[in-house]
Amino acid sequence: MDKMWAGRFDKALDKQADDFNSSIHFDCRMYKQDITGSMFHAMMLKNQGIISPDEYAQILNGLSGILEDIENGRLEIDMEAEDIHMFVESVLTKRIGDAGKKLHTARSRNDQVALDIRKYLADECEEIGSLILNLIKAIKEKASENIDTIMPGYTHLQRAQPITFAHHILTYAFMLKRDYDRIGNAVERMLESCPIGSCALAGTTYNTDRYFEAERNGFTGVSLNSIDGVSDRDFCVELLADFSTIMMHLSRFSEEIILWSSWEFKFVELDDSYTTGSSIMPQKKNSDMAELVRGKTGRVYGDLFAMLTILKGIPLAYNKDMQEDKEAIFDAVDTVKKCLSIFAPMVATMSVLKENMYKAAGEGFINATDLADYLVKKGMPFRTAYKIVGEIVGYCIKEGFVLENLPIEKYKEFDSTFKEDLYNEISLETCVLKRISVGGTGPESVKAQIDYFTEFLNEKNIY
Ligand code: ARG
Repeated sequence: MDKMWAGRFDKALDKQADDFNSSIHFDCRMYKQDITGSMFHAMMLKNQGIISPDEYAQILNGLSGILEDIENGRLEIDMEAEDIHMFVESVLTKRIGDAGKKLHTARSRNDQVALDIRKYLADECEEIGSLILNLIKAIKEKASENIDTIMPGYTHLQRAQPITFAHHILTYAFMLKRDYDRIGNAVERMLESCPIGSCALAGTTYNTDRYFEAERNGFTGVSLNSIDGVSDRDFCVELLADFSTIMMHLSRFSEEIILWSSWEFKFVELDDSYTTGSSIMPQKKNSDMAELVRGKTGRVYGDLFAMLTILKGIPLAYNKDMQEDKEAIFDAVDTVKKCLSIFAPMVATMSVLKENMYKAAGEGFINATDLADYLVKKGMPFRTAYKIVGEIVGYCIKEGFVLENLPIEKYKEFDSTFKEDLYNEISLETCVLKRISVGGTGPESVKAQIDYFTEFLNEKNIY
């Protein structure tokens, strides 16, 4: 394909250099944002009297045709083109002649690409937002079925205190809600500064209306410094950090699902449709989806670091290095979307093995804190109670007892405060039921957390 800038050169670009320079293989995915952006640009040029109404009509018609033809497969994007911007403009000029050559008045590819990528990301973030909401819904529903499912809560991966499975998994819903809000904030900020009209870097001598174009393209304002308009990619860094955080959350959840699916835990069983077998070991059922999500987290972190590194040394304003922003952020967008999409049905179809969870909660002196609290409620200072219970636990381990079956006479030898009612106080059910502090594991507190998400999802029209 002939270069639009060929006039200044005596020789054609070397083939290998041409391929190296080209971004069409990846920026072709922004064709829609590029074309609609151009439509609004042409409209602005017409409104400002920079092109005639007739030229505008031809451009608009030409661009609509190109968009339609790409969408229904009649026009194939030419991978020999330098980038999507050049491709669209050259097809337009071929189709409508001289009027097409006027489209690029009062703009540059520098502000054009800065506009396209923002619009593209705004659209993708909309989808990512819906996928997050879907996953929150799947978690909320699984939680609703497990308000009474007792399991061990862990710290240091040691059994710590009894909790419910609902309480545990709702933690991920809270993380994901923050992710949702963070993306919303980042997009809002990104859309505050529309770059189009910054032109190459210095602005333009034409009487343009940047506010009109900004508004049409879905922005709330314009970039107030044209150099910043074309050289800023902070929004990519910010979104990549947000995507990395989503992946970090999914990766933690994956790690738990992988552990819970192991024979060592056997707390959950993933549905056959989201697990794989081994080519050699017939007994295996592997949590490959969760493992892949955990693995792909590294890849998204890599995209964030690529972006930061690309930007760190480049002088103002546009430099070709910035073309590298796209592959990084596109990869992250695709990966986050795939991971969120697979996670929701994987969680929804996962069976919870309640008895195994309950059994695990009954082992390991998980109710020791409650035994200490029993003494405290009878007037003993917490530290003293803590010490006595520590001694009791030590005795039980040595003699093969658990707190539930250690005889009352033995308890009384440790402290005369102990009465028969202690057994009720340290039952797993009591330990859980009584934790009704805000945010706690007790059913009332957990129901409030579920209600919080029902309301949040309803606000987003998800029922
Ligand atoms: N393909 C380029 C990119 O993605 C478009 C901008 C090119 N601008 C330029 N001055 N060469 O960054």
